Amino acid sequence: MSSEVIGREVKRRRTFAIISHPDAGKSTMTEALALHARMISEAGAVHGKGGRRSTVSDWMEMEKARGISVSSTALQFKYACEATGDDKDFPHVINLVDTPGHSDFSEDTYRVLTAVDAAVMLIDAAKGLEPQTLKLFQVCRHRGIPVITVINKWDRPGQTPLELIDEISERIGLIPTPMFLPVGIAGDFRGLLDRRTGDYVKFTRTAGGAKIAPEELLDADATAQAEGDAWTAAAEESELLSELGQDHDQEMFLAGQTSPMIFTSAMLNFGVRQLLETLVEFAPPPRGRESIDGVAREVTDPFSAVVFKVQAGMDSSHRDRLAYMRIVSGEFERGMVVNHAQTGKPFATKYAQAVFGRDRATVDTAYPGDVVGLVNAMTLAPGDTLYLDPKVQYPPIPSFAPEHFSSLRVTTADKYKQFRKAIDQLDAEGVVQVLRNDIRGDASPVLAAVGPMQFEVVTARMKAEFNVDTIIEPLGYALARRTDEASVAELNRQRGVEVFTRSDGAILALFSDKWRLQYIEKEHKDLHLEPLVAAA
Ligand code: G4P
Repeated sequence: MSSEVIGREVKRRRTFAIISHPDAGKSTMTEALALHARMISEAGAVHGKGGRRSTVSDWMEMEKARGISVSSTALQFKYACEATGDDKDFPHVINLVDTPGHSDFSEDTYRVLTAVDAAVMLIDAAKGLEPQTLKLFQVCRHRGIPVITVINKWDRPGQTPLELIDEISERIGLIPTPMFLPVGIAGDFRGLLDRRTGDYVKFTRTAGGAKIAPEELLDADATAQAEGDAWTAAAEESELLSELGQDHDQEMFLAGQTSPMIFTSAMLNFGVRQLLETLVEFAPPPRGRESIDGVAREVTDPFSAVVFKVQAGMDSSHRDRLAYMRIVSGEFERGMVVNHAQTGKPFATKYAQAVFGRDRATVDTAYPGDVVGLVNAMTLAPGDTLYLDPKVQYPPIPSFAPEHFSSLRVTTADKYKQFRKAIDQLDAEGVVQVLRNDIRGDASPVLAAVGPMQFEVVTARMKAEFNVDTIIEPLGYALARRTDEASVAELNRQRGVEVFTRSDGAILALFSDKWRLQYIEKEHKDLHLEPLVAAA
């Protein structure tokens, strides 16, 4: 495959994730995007409305019982962008990598962000910035991922645009640069003022918000008459923002300093096309990456990919283990035998699939930015590299700051061997972090997680796949710091502290609460206590 073809394919790709707090409307927005990309003809297929919550993804009984999505999956769709003048026969290709939507989110949510080139921060107009959004935003900032801000649910009463803009600038230091401003206050969403053209995009509601909302483009004069004060308010806000310098600046956006902002109603399908246009026009296409030894691999170089998630024990019709890889360079063709950098062994990709929820389709070719699910990937773990020569190995995915700690015990002594095997397997898959120390011994490791649901996944899989009954007991620790050998003895003398070695060799000190940590830091300034990535 010529590098020219790969280059063209890369240029038309956008890979992003939606970061939001539960209930901000991520599922509804995902569906609205699919509707606009003509993947579905009516809203209600991906996300069941009116309590009919259907499956975006459902695996394991516990997920079904709670009606939530535990797994990360990727949705690919094509979109012919007006702003970039797309040829309908060669539209943009958009990969939306889904993140678990429940508040008990886990490391998987964070790992997804290692696989995307941009993020859409979805905010409820009434609630503003919420805790989970903030945590995910910190990961984006840490990884230098540019963020587009979407204020959703504008059809319902909420804050004013300027209040929301202030809140975002002040609390997280990200400067919103609205591309579109709403005409009509929150709760009276009539349309959008396009700040670049000065035109008015007027929306018309469709029955139940099931279809794409028709748009009418009006110039400023016609609108001033039709919409009166609502238009004047939006025009004044726009002027004020321009005076403050809050106009889009591509360099500042890519540097993570500013964020193009849009106002939407995912439920009514208002502003969704504008989001797609903004995403395609401004979000960056996939780029090459540096290997662990600092060598750049360009997107047009031979095939390479990073595994960012491994998932097992999926729903009963597909019992297998799936590894999701994000392609970094080159062309992927199903059936290719690639190399696994971590083991040095070949890996056959006969059963490559695109996975979104229950639906799976065979993938024959894929390009940088695409996400491909590899079936029966028993040897692959998050952070692993797959490649075709020349060899490349990408830096490992960082492990994220755990906030929940529990000890795990097997209930029947004769199952100890299986228990060890299961722990090692789940650890290698990155289901949970496994910590050990001499006092507790091997029979009772401590599990560390970003979200407590990770513990339930461990006990459920222990039983289902290894037939081992376990008891999980929460421990009274709330946060972890990375430390070093020289600090261990002093830390062990402290109350409310316990030191462990994680399976990757990192030495972690767990603290009962942040006051204990602050006290120890103050009293013992020589101790090495380093925050972990994405510490809340
Ligand atoms: P999530 O994935 O981020 O958790 O949010 P989800 O899309 O499930 O939306 C949460 C609730 O907010 C849903 O209502 C959904 O219909 C509603 N919602 C989403 N976007 C909008 C919007 O733009 N405007 C309004 N008014 N509501 C919106 P629900 O009552 O919990 O569920 P359902 O009965 O509608 O399914």
